[in-house]
Amino acid sequence: MEGPGRALILGIETSCDETAAALVTDDGEIRANVVSSQADLHARYGGVVPEVASRRHLELVAPVVREALGEADATLDDVDRIAVTQGPGLIGALLVGLSAAKAIAWSRRLPLVPVDHLRGHVASLYLRPDPLEPPFLCLLASGGHTLLLDVRGYDDEHVLGTTLDDAAGEAFDKGARLLGLGYPGGRELDRLAREGDPAAYDFPVARVPGLDFSFSGLKTALLYATRDLSPEQLQARRADLAASYQRAIVRALVARVREAAEQSGARRVAVVGGVAANSELRASLPDAALAPLPLCTDNAAMIASAARFAHRLSYPAYLGLDAYASR
Ligand SMILES: Nc1ncnc2c1ncn2[C@@H]1O[C@H](COP(=O)(O)OP(=O)(O)OP(=O)(O)O)[C@@H](O)[C@H]1O
Ligand SMILES: [Mg+2]
Repeated sequence: MEGPGRALILGIETSCDETAAALVTDDGEIRANVVSSQADLHARYGGVVPEVASRRHLELVAPVVREALGEADATLDDVDRIAVTQGPGLIGALLVGLSAAKAIAWSRRLPLVPVDHLRGHVASLYLRPDPLEPPFLCLLASGGHTLLLDVRGYDDEHVLGTTLDDAAGEAFDKGARLLGLGYPGGRELDRLAREGDPAAYDFPVARVPGLDFSFSGLKTALLYATRDLSPEQLQARRADLAASYQRAIVRALVARVREAAEQSGARRVAVVGGVAANSELRASLPDAALAPLPLCTDNAAMIASAARFAHRLSYPAYLGLDAYASR
């Protein structure tokens, strides 16, 4: 392994309920990628509690950075810049990561690169061993966003479509909740769906104009299908409900991706974000470039990756930097 001397980017991500740190080389090799999820902490509330998340980030951010350095067999002497998620996300959670990044950068007089979380998701495709190069059409489907992006360059993307209500990941999570699968439920729903019949229920997906998405009606349809079932009946139909519900979400996503590819003439299609981990979605887009599984949900390797193509702020220009909750 080539050690010190090769510049490392330290990435920090705290926009939601994952405290994450990673070390990535300038040419996109991941040297360490540590993600500490708070999911268990929030599960009993059925969603992320912002204040609880901020406090936990505060406890975890230093140990997670230390762990990443240890995993990469590096010290801060090997780090040449700090990358950090500036937004969008939970403002208190973001501020913990941003303050930690500023403190580390300031103490070493290193440059800091503020990164947009959504650009970070796209940049999960730019890492080795199989980096993708723009241009491409990108579906970003996560817990908070569903976007169709025309990615023209590393720092140049245009929104072709977005959700008018719930995000795809949110639809998975709300569906999982109705099926008693806990939080966050996308992965569990994916697992349960494998045992069910996707044709058992016909869940409608709203057709909205243009290249936008709408998932809120689907969740209501699932609610109607489940609310009159006894607990025993629900148990017996759960896998079929999960499979049919997942099929409806995946079909809606895939249909829009195909339409957008046709309209824009894109030759390459890519999928990123937590929902990109979905097995049915992955199987439905066999020719697409898919974010590697460990890089679908939030992580800091993608943030460090995005920083490779973004403007760096030198000391002390970044000290006044603020986080932003939405784009
Ligand atoms: N296998 C899966 N199938 C479907 N959904 C999944 C799967 N794995 C994870 N998810 C969903 O992905 C979402 C989390 O993704 P991610 O971490 O990218 O979102 P986020 O960071 O909370 O939102 P954003 O990036 O928009 O701020 C959750 O909604 C989760 O249920
Ligand atoms: Mg995310």
